[in-house]
Amino acid sequence: MPYAIAIDGPAGAGKSTIARALAKELQFIYVDTGALYRTVGLYILRSHIALTDAEAITAGLPGLRVTLGYAGGEQRVFLNGEDVSDSIRTPEVSMAASAVSAIPAVRAFLLQTQRDMAAAHSVVMDGRDIGTTILPQAQVKIFLTASAEARAQRRFTELQEKGADTTYEAVLQDMEKRDYDDTHRAISPLQQAPDAVLVDTSHDTLAQAIERVRQTVAARLPRSGQEA
Ligand code: DC
Repeated sequence: MPYAIAIDGPAGAGKSTIARALAKELQFIYVDTGALYRTVGLYILRSHIALTDAEAITAGLPGLRVTLGYAGGEQRVFLNGEDVSDSIRTPEVSMAASAVSAIPAVRAFLLQTQRDMAAAHSVVMDGRDIGTTILPQAQVKIFLTASAEARAQRRFTELQEKGADTTYEAVLQDMEKRDYDDTHRAISPLQQAPDAVLVDTSHDTLAQAIERVRQTVAARLPRSGQEA
């Protein structure tokens, strides 16, 4: 039976970097579910539908096919067959993803894709509601968090390295708005599953955070415990 490790938490806590490293070590598939919501967000932006118009967004979903593929061990996401893995990494698409993720029809639309991945492979899946809604049976659940300031600083450095024209204050403001929206939406809000282990990485280097998560997993996953 496939294993599932669910990693949930707010934006910028280090989920994707840590989940990717863990998946590589365990030889599991890494599933970045944020990429699915980002792809819906990009599609809505391109369709010139208002992000506040839940009805029009819902009506647009039948024209959209979101699929995942893997190239060299890296996840790629496709919008009606087009590889949009790079175009979805902009602040504009981040905000659009957060907006569409509050719409029940969008969450329902992406639910099966996520469950299918976990049914077919052992996965490390990261997102906001993996441990609570998508894979409540996951063998290991981690709620990864850090202070908003620490997360904004990391995201700001990342954007700067990519040459993006932004400020720390703007990134922090976006982060706080997304945190608020993600934790206050009516459906599947970001929250720690009762059986999830809380890992706060505010004062960790990336290497320390990875090691902490690795130990948490090793203590709970029989297979990785034997290998460790
Ligand atoms: O993890 P990310 O920043 O790529 O996610 C983009 C947005 O998608 C985020 O603001 C909330 C939403 N999201 C979600 O609602 N549920 C998930 N499982 C993953 C992401």
